[in-house]
Amino acid sequence: MGKLSLQHCYSINDLRLLSRCKIPRAVFDYIDGGAEDEITLKNNRNAFDRFRLNPRALVDVSSVDLSTTLLGQPIAMPLILAPTAMTRLFHHEGEKPVARAASKAGIIYTLSSMATTSIESIAQHVEGPRWFQIYVWRDRRLLQDFIRRCRESDYKALCLTVDLPVHGNRERDLKNGLTIPPRIGPRLLLDLIRHPQWTWHFLRSDPFTLANVCESLETDQDRFILKEYIDAQFDPSVTWEDAAWMIEQWQGPFVIKGISNVEDARRAADIGASAIVVSNHGGRQLDHAPGTLDVLEPICIAVSDRLEIIIDGGFRRGTDVIKALALGARACMIGRPYLYGLCAGGEAGVDRVLQIFREELIRDMKLVGCRDLSQIDRNTIIN
Ligand code: GLV
Repeated sequence: MGKLSLQHCYSINDLRLLSRCKIPRAVFDYIDGGAEDEITLKNNRNAFDRFRLNPRALVDVSSVDLSTTLLGQPIAMPLILAPTAMTRLFHHEGEKPVARAASKAGIIYTLSSMATTSIESIAQHVEGPRWFQIYVWRDRRLLQDFIRRCRESDYKALCLTVDLPVHGNRERDLKNGLTIPPRIGPRLLLDLIRHPQWTWHFLRSDPFTLANVCESLETDQDRFILKEYIDAQFDPSVTWEDAAWMIEQWQGPFVIKGISNVEDARRAADIGASAIVVSNHGGRQLDHAPGTLDVLEPICIAVSDRLEIIIDGGFRRGTDVIKALALGARACMIGRPYLYGLCAGGEAGVDRVLQIFREELIRDMKLVGCRDLSQIDRNTIIN
């Protein structure tokens, strides 16, 4: 693995392996891990193997068009970068290189409310369409503040995550004692010594903060576990009425992320959401939830005439994206893949991830006999 470099990473899995060499194990585990026995994490991946592709022969595929639109916004390929918390832990430049890579690739970047770069800073430094992700804080003024700031900084959509009333039980993080900033015990010290480049950059760059919520951090400790912060600050009593209230406040494209069944998809449409993300938070929340691809089709049948449907959870290949589109999704969100790229090589690593997805998608579309995304339909796959 020592010899593996970005140029010699041919797949997302290669980038995952490279990232594992570059960053402390505790940080890698935070990205890579799921809740409890990681059954949902595996369900997400295993679901792709249950569907096979059905190629059509002798179609003129001399050129392939990957472009589409999402909530009225043209995008160059059917991918969106997911919101991910604390990105500066993975690379000292944080969210900016990720947003820049998305912008260069012509796709949307979603900034997390738990990001280490502010709403305004991303807007000032990075061109390109962006969404902002929110949770529901006990302090509703913070939400109204986010809405105002996003409007002022021209964020195209708000994305409410609804699968995190409490933090999932991520045992890898508990075992690793992952705190913010990291608690340097003997095990982590050894881990840091083994990754001098990461450690050097982490210590030299700006202090680690959750840039969008730092003023409201009601913790007198200078160090906290994300799980404790979330369980103390997030409001687990939130209901559909609150989501409807947020839609009314925002008055723009509104995405609900974390839907996994037809009933909730219908409710999202009923309250006026513009899109949903069929998601189980990458297997990081409720263990034993089904793989997202397994629940996608009935949801698309029920509500695709009322809102746009995005899916995430385990996307690593162009063929994965084609399968999701064949079942009715409009686009796919990726989180871990770009974080592997970021850890492996900063902005160039994220560029490489998006290049791999684009190249795989173009090749796979040609092999399956589709010239553009509208030609991908239910006949493109067989269960
Ligand atoms: C945050 O949303 C996480 O899954 O770590």
